[in-house]
Amino acid sequence: MQLSWLDAPTDTPACVVADLEKVGVRYHHLSTDPARYEPALAELCKRSGYTTRDEVSLSKDTPNLQVLIDKFKDEHLHEEDEVRFVLSGEGIFDLRSEDDRWMRVHVMPGDVLVVPKGLYHRFFLTESCSIRCVRLFQDPAGWTPHYRHAPNHAA
Ligand SMILES: [Fe+2]
Repeated sequence: MQLSWLDAPTDTPACVVADLEKVGVRYHHLSTDPARYEPALAELCKRSGYTTRDEVSLSKDTPNLQVLIDKFKDEHLHEEDEVRFVLSGEGIFDLRSEDDRWMRVHVMPGDVLVVPKGLYHRFFLTESCSIRCVRLFQDPAGWTPHYRHAPNHAA
């Protein structure tokens, strides 16, 4: 995981995990070996009430990739946590900080990111255009985007 301020003046202290924690974001790093990560995911599910999981894979070969990307590139929030465990590939989450700036989180294999319900964020693929993740849900029905601005409106 790489963490940085997207839009901070150069004299701003580096963005650190504590800045994520201030807005309720949780970060863990796990092995990508199923024998090792499954017990950790099971514990996370038990502790946080995640009852459903699936696996999602995005790549240049994904049908309607642009439609999927467009859905999450504009600032939005959910009424449920957004939980991603990266198995392979990479992606970028921009998360709103306590003072409404952007914290850029570049997630990589082994990263677990929990974006709490109600926190504005957006998601992009990197140039490699490839990510495979486990997603955990409290209730998949709650995991729909609510946009801060009308979609495609400049943030
Ligand atoms: Fe989201």
